[in-house]
Amino acid sequence: MNLHTKKYLASLCLTVIFSISGLVNVSFAGEFEELESCYHCHGEDGASTEPEIPSIGGLSAPYIIDTMLTYRNDERPCQETEFPVGPRKGEKTDMCVTARDLSEAQTEEIAEHLAKEPFVRAKQDFDPEKAKPGKIVHNRLCKKCHEDAGASPDDDAGILAGQWMPYMEQQMEEYLTGKRPMPKKMKIKMDKLDKTDTENLIHYYGSFQ
Ligand code: HEC
Ligand code: HEC
Repeated sequence: MNLHTKKYLASLCLTVIFSISGLVNVSFAGEFEELESCYHCHGEDGASTEPEIPSIGGLSAPYIIDTMLTYRNDERPCQETEFPVGPRKGEKTDMCVTARDLSEAQTEEIAEHLAKEPFVRAKQDFDPEKAKPGKIVHNRLCKKCHEDAGASPDDDAGILAGQWMPYMEQQMEEYLTGKRPMPKKMKIKMDKLDKTDTENLIHYYGSFQ
């Protein structure tokens, strides 16, 4: 093979590689744009810096897909929230509207992306005197389904360890007042909690940083 042929083959290879990556880019462009919009509320790669907005990077794909379906069907309460940053800064929307704007394929694509990101634990103030009894309550009532203080995405039950406490407080309130649906077996355990237990649990989850 002479030099000219080698050069020709090399450039042909590059052309093929670029056209393949071009095609891939085109097919993912829609999802990436939507994902950027998630990040404007949920933080870069889903690591939230807003205490009322949960971190979603590192949640399992099945949990995210199920959750988006729940929002889509208005089965879980949706808090109206302002975009804290980005081109829609100051504009309000909620998760029910956001979930309905995505196709099934986009939702799956986004869930797969988010599941590959690490879950970044929130740096927040907690009371160690509340976290201690919180751990005992967790181990007694919640551990069976939320392993390692709820740190394992494989439970397909969200991530509790290191999640933002104001978000957790809101969710516990929604569960305890019956606004957010939960598995029957979780409800049996939740019914056993008093106000102090609930507060202690939140400090326990917040203590993971
Ligand atoms: C305007 C801000 C905003 C945008 C944009 C937004 N979210 Fe949310 N998201 C929230 C808030 C606030 C909550 C928690 C309160 C609630 O349930 O309404 C939430 C909750 C969630 C949850 C539940 C987390 C859990 O642990 O159960 C998931 C999953 C989620 N969002 C995914 C997404 C995805 C995917 C996108 C982009 C397609 C997105 N969000 C866009 C504000 C936003
Ligand atoms: C029988 C299994 C089971 C038990 C026991 C259980 N949970 Fe859950 N939990 C789940 C599942 C499954 C989900 C996801 C629910 C959904 O899809 O909305 C969940 C979700 C949650 C969430 C929402 C996480 C998020 O990201 O929004 C919180 C908070 C929570 N559980 C707290 C508790 C606490 C506190 C206890 C103990 C008092 C408990 N759970 C006991 C199965 C359980």
